[in-house]
Amino acid sequence: MSSPATAPFAVEIRHIEALSAQVRRLVLQAQPPARARFAEGQFLSLMLADGSRRSYSYAGACRDDGTFELHVRLHAGGRFSTLLTQGTLRPGSRLEAIGPFGECVWQPATAADAPVLMLATGTGLAPLKALLEAQLPQPGAPLWLYWGGVSEQDLYLHDQLRALARRAPRFHYVPVLSQPSAHWPGERGFVQEIAMRDHRDLRAGTVYACGAPVMVRSALQQLCTHCGLDPARFHADPFEPSEPAPAPSQAAPVRIEVRRADGSRTALALAASGSLMTALRAERLLIGVCGGQQSCGTCRIRLSADQFQRLPAPARSEQRLLRALPASGALDRLACQIALDAALDGLQLTIPGADG
Ligand code: FES
Repeated sequence: MSSPATAPFAVEIRHIEALSAQVRRLVLQAQPPARARFAEGQFLSLMLADGSRRSYSYAGACRDDGTFELHVRLHAGGRFSTLLTQGTLRPGSRLEAIGPFGECVWQPATAADAPVLMLATGTGLAPLKALLEAQLPQPGAPLWLYWGGVSEQDLYLHDQLRALARRAPRFHYVPVLSQPSAHWPGERGFVQEIAMRDHRDLRAGTVYACGAPVMVRSALQQLCTHCGLDPARFHADPFEPSEPAPAPSQAAPVRIEVRRADGSRTALALAASGSLMTALRAERLLIGVCGGQQSCGTCRIRLSADQFQRLPAPARSEQRLLRALPASGALDRLACQIALDAALDGLQLTIPGADG
């Protein structure tokens, strides 16, 4: 897998195309081209002029020429959406990007005939399309894509996927709509329910789920409970909104001493609310790209042994991401998984550099 890279790189918009009324396809060129290396299923963040960031999954297989594709859902009044629809961002516009991030990448199937299920809603299709483009040219297990939306216009690549299913014998495409028109000939309901109906035994299966968090949570629970899926073979990228700002706290401030990689120190007095990542990000000490979804690793902190002992033990999911980060050590934690409360008062931590 490509390692998370915290140094920004330049990208230029080459092409913008409407895939539907709500979804735009962007083709971008990275400079230098090598910075566009990623593992299919990962995402990157685009940095806007006002300092905010928007994260998007790579929507196609990794290419050697440094170009890559994103699918952007437009939101009324959204900052990035407005820049696109008003033409402020157009072919030739340059941005900074950071990445790649994310763990929802291809894992070898357990057996040649073990089913691989891909569940998506909306633009959650993008990372799964990237996985399909990389995997379908190779022989392997059957691949089932369940793509869900509310109505027909949400399936912005429906015809292309149907054509792909006709060309690729190992690929099965099942569109699912929750509120289709009366003429819809396909499945009705929710992707996780239709997938569960079609695959009663997933003990040897692998599942990738990307899109609405409610779908991802429901799929994990239902497929593991009713179909025997091993939770370790459920790989997900829920499209969570950014973490909301913590509510004001009346409690005494929590004192934290932060050391940077260059040896400088900062003493902070933080409101006891939200996560440690949110507070450190507000102080511009780290970036926390994924907003606490345990998929970027950009909130990694390092502790001494005695300070490490003060914190509740990390969950398995946190340990898994920390193990995957190349420079991570045994006393590292993800700040997004640590509640900022009075128990942290006096904590000393280090923000490691990209190499340490
Ligand atoms: S903010 Fe992404 S892993 Fe913590």
